Amino acid sequence: MGAPGSGKGTQAEKLMDEYNCRQISTGVLLREAIESGSELGQEVQKIMSEGLLVSDGIVLDLIKYELSKIGENSFLLDGYPRNISQAKSLDDLLSNLNKPLDYTILIDVPSEILIKRLSGRRTCSLTGKTLNIYFSSETEIDECLSKGGELLQREDDNEQSITKRIEVYGQQTEPMIDYYKSAGLLETIDGHGSVNDVYGRLKKLMEL
Ligand code: AP5
Repeated sequence: MGAPGSGKGTQAEKLMDEYNCRQISTGVLLREAIESGSELGQEVQKIMSEGLLVSDGIVLDLIKYELSKIGENSFLLDGYPRNISQAKSLDDLLSNLNKPLDYTILIDVPSEILIKRLSGRRTCSLTGKTLNIYFSSETEIDECLSKGGELLQREDDNEQSITKRIEVYGQQTEPMIDYYKSAGLLETIDGHGSVNDVYGRLKKLMEL
């Protein structure tokens, strides 16, 4: 868990590559639903563009479906749960599947950094890699552009939605910090510094 722009998706991509685990991101699943033009996509598009949370029932159905396909593979939840009610539903679901959570990892980043990271975020249209016009190296950006890729910006990465998402995080998601702390499952890493600096801290934690 972490605020919007804290680096959850970026670090999940690196962990998946190295540890061969599956990333289950409710944000990605919901954006796929929007792109497909499905009824679900149409229902959630406006809510997401306003920076609000989609209903607990919708995301729980998505998570249930993804976990039903996971088999014995390890997985990493990115952006789920996002409030105490979702955390409790997840506890029940994982207990029924006999797959308890190993950890909840909080990536801790102050809000002034988040806004720059989110306004500069782009996705390469060819590789799907998450990049940043302020923080990615020229080589990384060229790797996408030189092959004819485009740098795409997410619809909800505009000033109004970013402000709302950060506010919603503080009101609804931050209370989960105490929930997981009380359960003895919370690990916090400092999200300052480069992507690789943060990944180094994450790896150290995973190896412990
Ligand atoms: P979601 O897609 O989960 O968005 P989010 O939580 O707002 O988080 P982000 O994806 O914006 O940030 P991130 O932490 O993954 O950062 P990233 O690694 O990309 O959700 C979107 C919407 O879907 C929600 O608003 C809601 O409507 C709905 N939704 C999703 N889950 C839901 C749920 N469970 N319940 C209800 N609704 C739900 O990094 C950001 C940028 O910074 C990138 O450009 C990256 O390159 C750069 N960057 C990352 N790390 C560093 C670093 N260390 N140094 C420099 N740059 C960095």
